[in-house]
Amino acid sequence: MEVIITSSYEEMSRVSAKIIASEIRKKHDLTLGLATGDTPIGTYEELVKIHQEEGLDFSKIKSFNLDEYVGLAPLHKNSYNYFMRENLFNKININIANVYVPQGNTEDPEEYCKWYEKQIENCGGIDLQVLGIGRDGHIAFNEPGSSFASRTRVKALHKQTLEDNSRFFSSIDDVPRFAITMGIGTILEARRILLIANGERKADVVAAFIEGPVTSQITASALQLHTDVTVVLDNEAASKLARTEYYNWVRDHKHLVQKMVGR
Ligand code: F6R
Repeated sequence: MEVIITSSYEEMSRVSAKIIASEIRKKHDLTLGLATGDTPIGTYEELVKIHQEEGLDFSKIKSFNLDEYVGLAPLHKNSYNYFMRENLFNKININIANVYVPQGNTEDPEEYCKWYEKQIENCGGIDLQVLGIGRDGHIAFNEPGSSFASRTRVKALHKQTLEDNSRFFSSIDDVPRFAITMGIGTILEARRILLIANGERKADVVAAFIEGPVTSQITASALQLHTDVTVVLDNEAASKLARTEYYNWVRDHKHLVQKMVGR
């Protein structure tokens, strides 16, 4: 796991957008896995900037979002579909026919989840998966106790997630209790994973998933089982890590490290 500690939310956003842009330049028809929430807003703003100023081309990109609230139609203002269009899709030249966000108001969620997995497979699998992390350690909506073999399915949301996400709704009672989410198994099949986190409120869980044991109680710790994970943090989210000096040495000697380990 490569851990990059940056000095601010803005720098975290710039660094992560550069990583995504560089993967798109290497493979113009990349399949991108995308997250919603507060964390990636700055990254998406930076990507829009790179698209406008440097002509980064999304026309052949395919994208799959991690999750969506059950019961919310794609046009609902609190849906993740709406979030993605507002924060990214409407501002870049992505072909909307190549965009997949789980459909929250599907009539048959079980069949729909199988179909979603099939679409990922038909697109050749996810090349780069962008992730945030919840305060309960979730990636996507894989709440504590989720199986590391899980696939896209409906999941009941943890109380902490309902509380954290209630800021977008008029009250906690309006937050949907269920979500369609990619599984840990689905996420671990992505060729490369980029997790971003910022703010002091994420510091404990960031230290736990990077430096603690692999446990389904903190589902992000499953990323320790993947061979190509980059974590980009601001200094607040990194503040409880024990091995900061090592991560910074590796970051500052990137050319040497790349020469020696071939990445
Ligand atoms: C959203 C998602 C979630 C969020 C996480 C952090 O698509 O998959 O796992 O990444 O809840 O949310 P924020 O960024 O709002 O702190």
